[in-house]
Amino acid sequence: MTSLDTSTTATVDVAPASGTGTGTGTEAPADTGTRELLVRQVRLEADGVVSLQLADPSGKALAPWEPGAHLDLVLPSGLVRQYSLCGDPAERHHYTVAVLKEPASRGGSREIHDTGLVGRLLTVRGPRNQFRLTDAEHYLFLAGGIGVTPIVPMLAAVAALGRPYRLVYGGRTRASMAFLDRLGAIGGGTLEVLPEDEAGWPDLDAIVSSAPAGTAVYCCGPAGMIAALEGVCERHLPPGSLHVERFTAPVAPVAGELDAEPGATFEVELARTGVVLQVPPDRSLLRVVLEAVPSHLYSCEEGYCGTCEARVLDGEPDHRDTVLTDEEKDEGKMILCVGRACSPRLVLDL
Ligand code: FES
Repeated sequence: MTSLDTSTTATVDVAPASGTGTGTGTEAPADTGTRELLVRQVRLEADGVVSLQLADPSGKALAPWEPGAHLDLVLPSGLVRQYSLCGDPAERHHYTVAVLKEPASRGGSREIHDTGLVGRLLTVRGPRNQFRLTDAEHYLFLAGGIGVTPIVPMLAAVAALGRPYRLVYGGRTRASMAFLDRLGAIGGGTLEVLPEDEAGWPDLDAIVSSAPAGTAVYCCGPAGMIAALEGVCERHLPPGSLHVERFTAPVAPVAGELDAEPGATFEVELARTGVVLQVPPDRSLLRVVLEAVPSHLYSCEEGYCGTCEARVLDGEPDHRDTVLTDEEKDEGKMILCVGRACSPRLVLDL
């Protein structure tokens, strides 16, 4: 198979090591590091959108995850891409991600759509979660196109807690909007489906200004949608109310972050080997680290996908990314592709 035809579901069988389907499997791997998973199924979900089911080749239960988590997939070409998990966290024997074919993309989505992946092993890292649900009295979800993927399990989790929610889901056309049936079946809240060719653009100002006090806002969608929402939330909601997941770089660099001066030369020490390298002003920390650790995963090199994250053991990082939260920075995490150092040396757990 070279491409996926309309209405096609391609599958391959995987024998479970013990038990099948959902469950709490005690045999789950403890870590969420890098491993090989089998593409068990590829299915058309909407115009231009396929879902992939990934399973352990021997049928073992997979590491648990929470709504908002994503996987890093290493595609056969070597490209690394991030995809939000959109299945049921209680299903422990496969992960599900969904991918929109974007002709203007950097190649990852085209490769997934145009390659016969069923039955192939892909290197996978994660799940990792940079889009966690916080505890709130009310939830407002805004999804743009394929940005609905992390929202699907989030909505189910919020509904299971009995918390009120409103989801505003925009897309180009109704036929291009994935998971409408699943979202409709969740219940317990308000679902507004707004295909652009029927309803135009959602009025973000009206939507946000009518949110009850104590609302947490979650948005995943195109950069322009997130940028517009940031301005609206700043006007109407307390700081910290908005949580976003980006799949492209911000519309404009964040002042003082991505557009910051390159800075001075500093040293990076890789603690696991003791190797010390110089990072000159004209090279990124990631590119220097890759000389010694070529297997370290990365993708966007623009500070928004989180794939190149590493742990700082010593020194003062100069964070310039748009993905880590303040808590994650306090925990010692750092994004290598755009981050630099405020101290003469950084020691990384690599
Ligand atoms: S590679 Fe995407 S954040 Fe660094």
